[in-house]
Amino acid sequence: MDRPCIRPRSWPVTEYAPLRLSAPSKTDAVVVETPVVLAPMAGITNAAYRQLCAEQGAGLYVCEMLTSRGIVIGDRKTRQMLTFAPNETIRSVQTYGVDPATVADATRKLCEEYDVNHVDLNFGCPVPKVTRKGGGGALPWKQDRFRAIIRAVVQAADAYGVPVTMKTRKGINDEHLYYLDAGRIAQQEGAAAICLHARTVGDAYSGQADWDAIARLVEHVDIPVLGNGDIWEAADALAMMEQTGAAGVEVGRGCLGRPWLFRDLADAFAGRSTQTLPTLGEVAQMVRRHGELLAQIMGERHGLTDLRKHMAWYFKGFPVGGELRHDLAMISSFEQLDGLLAQLDADAPFPQIELGKPRGRQGTPRKHVILPYGWYNDTSGLDLELVDDDAAGSGG
Ligand SMILES: Cc1cc2nc3c(=O)[nH]c(=O)nc-3n(C[C@H](O)[C@H](O)[C@H](O)COP(=O)(O)O)c2cc1C
Repeated sequence: MDRPCIRPRSWPVTEYAPLRLSAPSKTDAVVVETPVVLAPMAGITNAAYRQLCAEQGAGLYVCEMLTSRGIVIGDRKTRQMLTFAPNETIRSVQTYGVDPATVADATRKLCEEYDVNHVDLNFGCPVPKVTRKGGGGALPWKQDRFRAIIRAVVQAADAYGVPVTMKTRKGINDEHLYYLDAGRIAQQEGAAAICLHARTVGDAYSGQADWDAIARLVEHVDIPVLGNGDIWEAADALAMMEQTGAAGVEVGRGCLGRPWLFRDLADAFAGRSTQTLPTLGEVAQMVRRHGELLAQIMGERHGLTDLRKHMAWYFKGFPVGGELRHDLAMISSFEQLDGLLAQLDADAPFPQIELGKPRGRQGTPRKHVILPYGWYNDTSGLDLELVDDDAAGSGG
């Protein structure tokens, strides 16, 4: 799949330091040589997808979001999601919850029973079912509760020398920004790093990520900041590093249907300008591999049903007829998959027009973020009766 770079621009030759995540009692508990992180994506970044991306490049690959209640009560689906690929040397899990004691219990369980090496806390989810209960991107507004969660989780994880990071947004909306306060609090409570998805909860995934906010957070805290939002190509990652001074990048939608982006990223951070441009036949091989990895963890029928959602991303811009696209999105066996992949024009070149373009969900901004009653009244919320969700994640 190696192809020459299509961007005729000189590549900045910069030394990029590894991403170092420390727990209070253990310096450099996790060191990621290439400071690139696969952003957690619910329903996407399961063990199969993480392995697929890791086979392509270097970095840290975070598990999709799991609710802390689900971990604590041993919910069946949550346990299934706590599967790790053989090449995952750093087991990294994102969890979320509104109750400090529950999130800390979940963290202990992750460290004790699942040998997790890194815990990430989700304070950015915009899904109404989560924000309605004060969770995800709603929570940092309540500074005392936010502080209590980070404190409890850092303490629980530190007993195992495991670093804790948190991922958040700029705020609930432009009138209710919290990222600088949240960054300061996370640092004070011993968080190892902060990832900023540079949009508000109300923005959801719309518009352009505000990289200037990432730069402001970098100025504001001493712990590493990971920049997130709108990295579609490796060159965007380097541009974000340059523009913001971030310690690393998190990449989400840009790698949907393009696990090889991690190869380009690894090369870019090593000073090489690779732009992988697979043919349709090579993409078909990647789809087959993705299916095999999913089948290993979920069985053939469930695994290939799960693969359906990736089809449109893999074949975006390629000459694949409507009927074939439709049938690819209906598969549930390898027999069907192989029969359909064999019908593709293996030599069709990569549609370069798709490069640098947004992929995955974009959505529209939300006028009103759904929150518990009176949420904006003050920034204190430790005494509120907030209830955690049991179900496995549906993050964002
Ligand atoms: C399908 C999907 C699921 C997501 N699930 C999560 C999640 O579980 N936890 C989280 O922190 N962010 C989640 N996100 C947000 C991404 O991690 C990332 O912050 C966001 O997509 C912006 O980065 P990008 O522009 O590189 O995609 C999700 C995004 C998508 C598209």
